[in-house]
Amino acid sequence: MKSIYLTGFMGAGKTTAGEALGKTMDLPVFDTDQEIERQQRQTITAIFADKGEHAFREMESNMLQDLPREDCIITTGGGIVIKGENRQWLAAHGYWVYLHCNPEEIAIRLEHDQSRPLLSGERKKDLYRLFSERLPLYLQAAIVVDTTGRTMDEVVKEIRKRI
Ligand code: S3P
Repeated sequence: MKSIYLTGFMGAGKTTAGEALGKTMDLPVFDTDQEIERQQRQTITAIFADKGEHAFREMESNMLQDLPREDCIITTGGGIVIKGENRQWLAAHGYWVYLHCNPEEIAIRLEHDQSRPLLSGERKKDLYRLFSERLPLYLQAAIVVDTTGRTMDEVVKEIRKRI
């Protein structure tokens, strides 16, 4: 089976959904951010601070292409869809799922979050702009699942039904 790629905005629940999906389908789960942190021996925040976003985006594309293309669940960083090259990869190599969540709900979930450099401190106000810039890119996914107001159980069931 082709791998399942979960994409979506920060705070959309990709990691939680990926873990639940991996458990119910008995498949290994890889997360591009966690794999980059392991490879670089640095947190995402430190990579952004030391090497910059551009360098992080290169690492992210390379990681996407290095992870197994079959029989696993891959959860991705929210910005994976920015690069056309990544979108082509997702469309060509797996089941590309977009987990949608409305930005108001995301803002509540991330209100106290400190781990995302693109939304840290003053940049919190960029959330709605970033969201609307990225939405058309996320919507290129083959499978769009709305998570707003739904339980993780319902979300996982829907993903399984649509694959
Ligand atoms: C980012 C999302 C983060 C992480 C990095 C950049 C983004 O991942 O890759 O902070 O550009 O949306 P999550 O979506 O898992 O928070």
